[in-house]
Amino acid sequence: MKIAIIGSGYVGLVTGACFAQVGHEVICVDNDERKVKALNHGRIPIYEPGLEQLVLRNVAARRLKFTGSIEYGVDNSEVVFIAVPTPPRADGSVDLTYIEQVAREIAAVLKEYRVIVDKSTVPVKTGEKVADTIRRYNKVNVDFDVVSNPEFLREGCAVTDLMEPDRIVIGANSERALAIMEKVYEPFLAPIMVTDVNSAELIKHAANSFLALKISYINAVSAICEATGADIEKVAEGIGADKRIGRSFLNAGLGYGGSCFPKDIAAFIAISELIGEPFHLLQEVQRINQRQRERFLKRLRDTLWVLKEKRIAVWGLTFKPHTDDVRSSVAIDLVNDLIREGARVTAYDPKGNQRVQELDLCPGVHLANSALEAVQDAETLVLATEWPEFSDVDLTEVRDRMHTPIVFDGRNLFDPATMRDLGFQYFGIGRSLANSSGTNQNSNGASTHGGLRPLQECRGIADSSRVSRGGKTDRSVPMKDSISSLCRGNC
Ligand code: UDX
Repeated sequence: MKIAIIGSGYVGLVTGACFAQVGHEVICVDNDERKVKALNHGRIPIYEPGLEQLVLRNVAARRLKFTGSIEYGVDNSEVVFIAVPTPPRADGSVDLTYIEQVAREIAAVLKEYRVIVDKSTVPVKTGEKVADTIRRYNKVNVDFDVVSNPEFLREGCAVTDLMEPDRIVIGANSERALAIMEKVYEPFLAPIMVTDVNSAELIKHAANSFLALKISYINAVSAICEATGADIEKVAEGIGADKRIGRSFLNAGLGYGGSCFPKDIAAFIAISELIGEPFHLLQEVQRINQRQRERFLKRLRDTLWVLKEKRIAVWGLTFKPHTDDVRSSVAIDLVNDLIREGARVTAYDPKGNQRVQELDLCPGVHLANSALEAVQDAETLVLATEWPEFSDVDLTEVRDRMHTPIVFDGRNLFDPATMRDLGFQYFGIGRSLANSSGTNQNSNGASTHGGLRPLQECRGIADSSRVSRGGKTDRSVPMKDSISSLCRGNC
């Protein structure tokens, strides 16, 4: 198929590279001439595992090219994807200026039938407005169809998510458009869910809101665990083993961030209010997310008494591991909270330091060049983003470099008992020192997240539950969950 993708940002670039990888001829269009030039020279503006190789391979194979001309893209393709940004407005509603502009630009150059596909995350009924706009601005009255095809890519594993999707959602109101879209996705061997345009648009907002709801739910339960001495990791395992619930996206932590969840929830709330059906549940999801970071800060204050002038090391600045994306990162909000209270913060992130510096996101922070450099003479270490490399750092060296070995683990990356045995004062999310029995750790003391073990394996063991997930495979938990929990939700 000949495919054009308008907008070579995160979604457009990953989608374009994967479509080319499965054999389509792809033209990526972008109105940023410098970006187009860089891409045509193999320079990728974002860090995403596997993407650079994919782009270079397909540019070399002449299946992928970049241009600044929408007309060139539309003329030389059968299907035109719209993948431009839909940023949030101050009131949480979605700014559709770029979508509307591209719809007018497509209309101006449309000469024969095309399928126009909305790939950007948009509110319900946007497809109708795109169709109205094209009809109004196309002077030659050409036939076309507008389709909704939401993406479900996660940063850090976007290539895998696109190449091996759980499902492909196609919202189309014409058989002709549907047949063409099925040819586009034929090489992906994934279930295709066909629906109308409005339902497809809603599926995206509803899916992201539900995932964030799961996170806020487990974070709300973590507060109860902290107050009662229970262990959130065991609770998550216990409820997650129920297939109706599922273990994924039940990792308690500092809260969700990123360019999608905060924005999509605010958008869904704005849509619900617009139609007179306020979505109170999602407002509570937002509140819990905000409170999670406030509660964490309070525990820091309660332990350190005064934060002013305290030397605090922070590991992690990106909104999650395996990406250089710092948009709506809870880690950055926490660093700025600490600096606002007068703390002297030294932070380190494997991929995010440069962006934080370039965008001046944390005025007053000192950026270290390594995890160990960051903890030098620190009075407390805060783990804010669970990069795997942090679980490989020599914790005894960390302890010896710190002024006082106090650790606040905002992502439950470490095992409480191991930290205790190494002489750290350790605070996790929804768990405490009393919780762990020191068995669930990998060779470097990083937690492998206490789950449950079948009773017959625990016979004679007094206390409630413990499990090893590191080296030894645990038969009681499906392999998929064990892989996801080991890499904490990345792929
Ligand atoms: C999300 C959706 O997962 C994806 O389907 C959609 O297309 C875009 O939005 P992304 O924003 O890349 O993807 O990140 P995701 O892995 O979903 O994590 C979002 C946030 O939730 C991160 O801050 C992460 O740390 C947090 N999170 C995730 C938790 O706190 N606990 C979890 O169990 C999972």
